[in-house]
Amino acid sequence: MQAKLHLDKEFTVGEVDKRIFGSFIEHLGRAVYGGIFEPGHAQADKSGFRKDVLNLVRELDVPVVRYPGGNFVSSFNWEDSVGPVAGRPRRLDLAWKAVEPNLFGLNEFMAWAKAANTEAMMALNLGTRGIEAASALVEYCNHPGESYWSDLRKSHGVKNPHNIKLWCLGNELDGPWQVGQKTPDEYGRLAFETAKAIKLFDPTLELVAVGSSNRRMPLFPQWEATVLEHCYDKVDYISVHEYYANRENDLPTFLANSIGMDHFINDVVATCDFVQAKKRGHKQIHLSFDEWNVWFHSNDADKKLAPWTVGPAQLEDVYTFEDALVVGTLINTLLRHADRVKIACMAQLVNVIAPIMTRNGGPAWKQTIFWPLFHASKYGRGTSMHLKIDVGHYANATYGDVPWLDASAIQSEDRKTVTVFVVNRHAKETIELTGKFAGLEHLKLKGHTVLHHADIKAVNDEKHPDNVAPVEKAVGAQTAGTLSVGLGPLSWNVLRFEA
Ligand code: AHR
Repeated sequence: MQAKLHLDKEFTVGEVDKRIFGSFIEHLGRAVYGGIFEPGHAQADKSGFRKDVLNLVRELDVPVVRYPGGNFVSSFNWEDSVGPVAGRPRRLDLAWKAVEPNLFGLNEFMAWAKAANTEAMMALNLGTRGIEAASALVEYCNHPGESYWSDLRKSHGVKNPHNIKLWCLGNELDGPWQVGQKTPDEYGRLAFETAKAIKLFDPTLELVAVGSSNRRMPLFPQWEATVLEHCYDKVDYISVHEYYANRENDLPTFLANSIGMDHFINDVVATCDFVQAKKRGHKQIHLSFDEWNVWFHSNDADKKLAPWTVGPAQLEDVYTFEDALVVGTLINTLLRHADRVKIACMAQLVNVIAPIMTRNGGPAWKQTIFWPLFHASKYGRGTSMHLKIDVGHYANATYGDVPWLDASAIQSEDRKTVTVFVVNRHAKETIELTGKFAGLEHLKLKGHTVLHHADIKAVNDEKHPDNVAPVEKAVGAQTAGTLSVGLGPLSWNVLRFEA
């Protein structure tokens, strides 16, 4: 099969905000206990942080990590997680029916984030709590001193403020599963008043209002419209969450889910712009796609877990090669919307629906989905370019005409390279991709990295951590300003063009 790629230096989508390569650590399952934090482990540093996990997180180069939830945050008292560890309460976490021992809390997370070379995206509890607890937390974290909450932080041994710039005004408050679910008007008012208080403290802080928990929620997109009508003036982003599954073992539909993500983003953008128009506003609300991933493998196992334990093995999806392909198409979709999606968090980072897995007392390894995120984080920073691919389609009952190829293109910040990420959705055919670049005639294909496995259900595990891993392919003779490359069936491809 033949396909043709068109790229033009003049046609760009926008700058990629590096926070699009973000992730998420929730107090859930073994994300914290046994994941990033395991005192006594052979790899633990003096703070109990697993160095093997830190190395993998640094390798992924995750610019922002959302914390501490998720559903967890909606009944969390942040004050329980600071001060001398011996005095911290053990609490029942209603969201996940687990015990939270508060051995790892706010200041430990900020120390871990520093070690991981990342920034915090801090979530506030607007489920069971409100303006007062949120303002206190912001003051505790960001005020230098000589006030009650900032002095409390200092008394906890943290002299300098954390200066956290990005805050989530709650989590999934439209969801019946959420502790403290709200109507759009209830939430919109609370988000507005909380945002007002936070911006009185510091107008430069960036705030994310809660959007619908997924595109199937009954109130979507009226939820976004009502919420933003309340708090448009005070917030900067609206959150978007979606997880994708292959319960029917239907690969063509599974591989087409990025089209669903694309529609979802367009719908949320349209709703934000509707409110902007209604308000005669000048500010564009951007999207924080702060939960996205494949999630379904662990659903049955989770039903069998005993409640009220510390660090149970919850949401431990073991990802297959086909999941990595889907993740590749989802990343392409986020990059193609770089003008409006400014933050995105793969949910989550370690053990819980995550690219990094560990065994308590044992090693850490990369899941299949680690690779597309790694490549995008490494080569996907710069300017997202419009790209057009002439390629055939297949018919799908859910998504209509699905192109065999899914791609995104990024020009690097220094403008010296262009990287094209492409997934070939075809199960049998190699697609011969040719192309001509306008205004980029000096670029030549210099590298072609491929992620492929003959078995679409192949996984990585402790004993076979490199079973699904990328390989470098020879690029053959190439002419500058053009492209001619074969994309193997069911493959994630990273094509790097340099001068
Ligand atoms: O990421 C797992 C859970 O999914 C989060 O806690 C919640 O926000 C979402 O429903």
